[in-house]
Amino acid sequence: MTTKLAVVGCGLMGGGIALDAARHGLDVRVYDARPESAADLRQRAAAVYARWVKNERMTQAAAETALARITPTATLAELGGADLIVEAIFEDLALKRGLMAALARHLGANTVVATNTSALRVGDIAEDVSFADRILGLHYFSPAEVSPLVEVVRAACTSEATVARALAFLRETRRTPLPCADSPGFAINRFFCPYYNEAVRIVEDELATPSQVDAVARKRLGAAAGPLTVLNLIGPRVASRAMENLSSLGPFYAATPELLVRGDRNAPYTIADDARLPGNADTIEDRLVAALAVPALELRAEGVADPEETDHGAVMALRFERGPYALIRSYPPSRIRAAITASCTRHGHPIPCLDSLDRR
Ligand SMILES: NC(=O)c1ccc[n+]([C@@H]2O[C@H](COP(=O)([O-])OP(=O)(O)OC[C@H]3O[C@@H](n4cnc5c(N)ncnc54)[C@H](O)[C@@H]3O)[C@@H](O)[C@H]2O)c1
Repeated sequence: MTTKLAVVGCGLMGGGIALDAARHGLDVRVYDARPESAADLRQRAAAVYARWVKNERMTQAAAETALARITPTATLAELGGADLIVEAIFEDLALKRGLMAALARHLGANTVVATNTSALRVGDIAEDVSFADRILGLHYFSPAEVSPLVEVVRAACTSEATVARALAFLRETRRTPLPCADSPGFAINRFFCPYYNEAVRIVEDELATPSQVDAVARKRLGAAAGPLTVLNLIGPRVASRAMENLSSLGPFYAATPELLVRGDRNAPYTIADDARLPGNADTIEDRLVAALAVPALELRAEGVADPEETDHGAVMALRFERGPYALIRSYPPSRIRAAITASCTRHGHPIPCLDSLDRR
C-alpha cells in the first residue's frame, strides 16, 4: 500500500520532503500557516523537476504526474486521512506542541506523525499528547529532496508499529534509515557539530587560518569539503544553535566563543580552496580527529545508534570519505588515545572508555 503523505510546514525541509515523495509516486497533501507557502511549493517542485528532466533523472511525463500529486490544503482537518504526517514547521517547542494538540482533533486512528526537528527532544514534543505512541522523529538532512539519509528517532513513547510504518515510507521514497535514540544531536550531529566547533577553536587559538584547517580536513581526513566550508553552507547562525543544543552533554560540547559570535552575526569565513598544509598539520589533524572520536565513543557506549550504520550515514549525509569509527580504526591506537586524552583534558571532560581502540 502506498503511503498517503501529508506535510505540515512547506519551507526548505518540508518542501523538499514533499516534492521528493511526489516524485516517488506518493500523493502528498501540504499545509502551511502561510497559505502562499503551500501554493509556492508547487512552483518550487516544478522548477526542481524541470532540472531533473534536463539531467535525465526523470521524464517530462513523470514530472507532470509528480506535480499533480502535490495538493495544497487550507486546513489541518484535510490531513486527517493521511497514513503519515511529517511536520517541518519552525524549530520551536511551543509551536510544535501546539501543532500536535491541533492535529489530535483531526487524526485518523492509525495516522503516524513524524517531526523533522533537529534540536528538540522528540519525547518533549510528544509530552502530554494523546497519540504519543504514534510520534517519532524523521530527521532529514538538507537538501531534503536529494540527501539520502534520514535519522529515524525512536522516543520512549514511540511504538514499534510507528517505527515500522515510517520505515515502510522511507523504503517507498528510497531513503536510507539510520535508527537512533532520542538523544541530543541524535547520531550524526553529535559528532559533526563538535568537529566544526573544534575547527573554529583551532582558528581562534591562532594555530592555523580557516583555509589551512579545511586543507588538513580534506587532505588528511579525506573530507569532501572542510568543516569551515560546510559551516558556511549551513549558515553560522544555524551551526551555532545546533552546537548549543549539545551543551547538556558536558564541557566537551560547549560552543566556542568565536562560534557564538559568528552565529550572532551570521558571519561566514573567507576560505581559499588551494591552501597548503601548515607545518603543524599533525596537531590540527589530531584535534579534528579527537573532536569526532570522543562523541563517537560516547555514542557507542550509550547505544544511541549502530556504529556501522552511523559510519555509513556519515558518508552519505556529510560526504566523509569514512565515518568516525572507520577513521578511528585507521590510526594507531596510541595516537588516537593520546589525541582523545589531550582533548578531554583541555576541556575538563571525562575521558570515554578507550578499551575498544585495541579491538580492531
Ligand atoms: N534547515 C535545515 O538544514 C534543517 C535540517 C534538518 C532539520 N531541520 C528542521 O526542519 C524544520 C523546518 O526547518 P526549515 O529550515 O524547513 O524551516 P523554514 O523556515 O524554511 O520552514 C518552516 C515553514 O513552517 C511554516 N510554519 C511555521 N509555523 C507553522 C505552523 N504552526 N503550522 C504550519 N506551518 C507553520 C512556515 O510558514 C514555513 O513555511 C525545523 O524543525 C528544523 O530544525 C532543518
